[in-house]
Amino acid sequence: MNLKITKANLLRSPPTDETKLGFGNTFTNHMLYMEYDEAKGGWGPAEIKPYGILGLEPASACLHYGQIVWEGLKCYRTKMGLRLFRPKENFKRLNRSAVRMCMPEIDVDYLLASLKELLILEEAWVPASLGTSLYIRPCMVANEPFLGLHKARKYILFIILSPSGPYFKEGFKPVKILVEDKYVRASVGGTGEAKTAGNYAASLKSTDEAIQKGFSQTLWLDGKERKYIEEVGAMNMAFVMNGEVITPPLEGSILAGITRKSILEICKHFDLPAAERKITIDEVIEGIKSGSLTEAFGMGTAAIIAPVGSITYKNITYTINNFEVGPVATRLYSELTGIQYGEKEDIFGWIEQVTK
Ligand SMILES: Cc1ncc(COP(=O)(O)O)c(C=O)c1O
Repeated sequence: MNLKITKANLLRSPPTDETKLGFGNTFTNHMLYMEYDEAKGGWGPAEIKPYGILGLEPASACLHYGQIVWEGLKCYRTKMGLRLFRPKENFKRLNRSAVRMCMPEIDVDYLLASLKELLILEEAWVPASLGTSLYIRPCMVANEPFLGLHKARKYILFIILSPSGPYFKEGFKPVKILVEDKYVRASVGGTGEAKTAGNYAASLKSTDEAIQKGFSQTLWLDGKERKYIEEVGAMNMAFVMNGEVITPPLEGSILAGITRKSILEICKHFDLPAAERKITIDEVIEGIKSGSLTEAFGMGTAAIIAPVGSITYKNITYTINNFEVGPVATRLYSELTGIQYGEKEDIFGWIEQVTK
């Protein structure tokens, strides 16, 4: 494809010790970069250039009014070459987020083809050890230098890459979560279903307080009644009740996770009972007490499945499945990571090959 590539003069080497890979702290030598200007008819061509300072003006719209949308996906090194998992779903969601934030959409196929070129250039940065990946962060921001409060007319889009270690360094272990009944992350009619910076800013205070109290994540309730389960941290939430996987429906305040969608499709394929329905915190607690609720887990690109070992609500802690990972979470984790790392056949056609 016709893609301008400007190589970095000083090339840094990928980290050699993959056991020390964390998350989001090292970046590859190059990034993908695009500019949008309404006056010039929209998006200009994609370009690969050295990773570096963007040079936004202090008046740049994103710094004041938060027109920022982003995505998160991973490139996996497998026996069959470098692979992406459902990347078009991420780019389609980027477009949906952009529409909600009054930002321009982008051609999904063109963006994917450009990303593949960047990944081929940075191939050496895709780690090989079990559970590692190259994390991909596309981000679009308004950069018109103008303080009037209206949608910007200029944007930039960049994709940066960061080698990342396994999410579960000490193994696939359950976490403790705190039900948040004061702060809210999002509400119906707001921007919860868009992957936009403000939602994450709104979540920081609660997460910070939860971590200080010894919990890993916040379990979010709905913004109106603080009654219905929404998400856990930056993941979608699921419970296993009477053998059925239950996840809250997408009604505007919840991000439409690609892991969530894939898990529902896996359940359907393997005839595992699953439902998208509203579930209250009271129903969850009653279920734990009666034994009908046997598992709880978060679903998202970072962890794939994050089992929940206990839920604390109004100062009372309820332990789930003796703080052990349950069979449904284990099965779903193995089905999904099996496809991603090429250990299981891609029966759903979810894999996008980057190199063979
Ligand atoms: C708020 C929120 N919910 C859910 C998810 C899970 O989405 P996905 O499975 O597409 O990573 C994410 C992760 O991006 C998120 O930020």
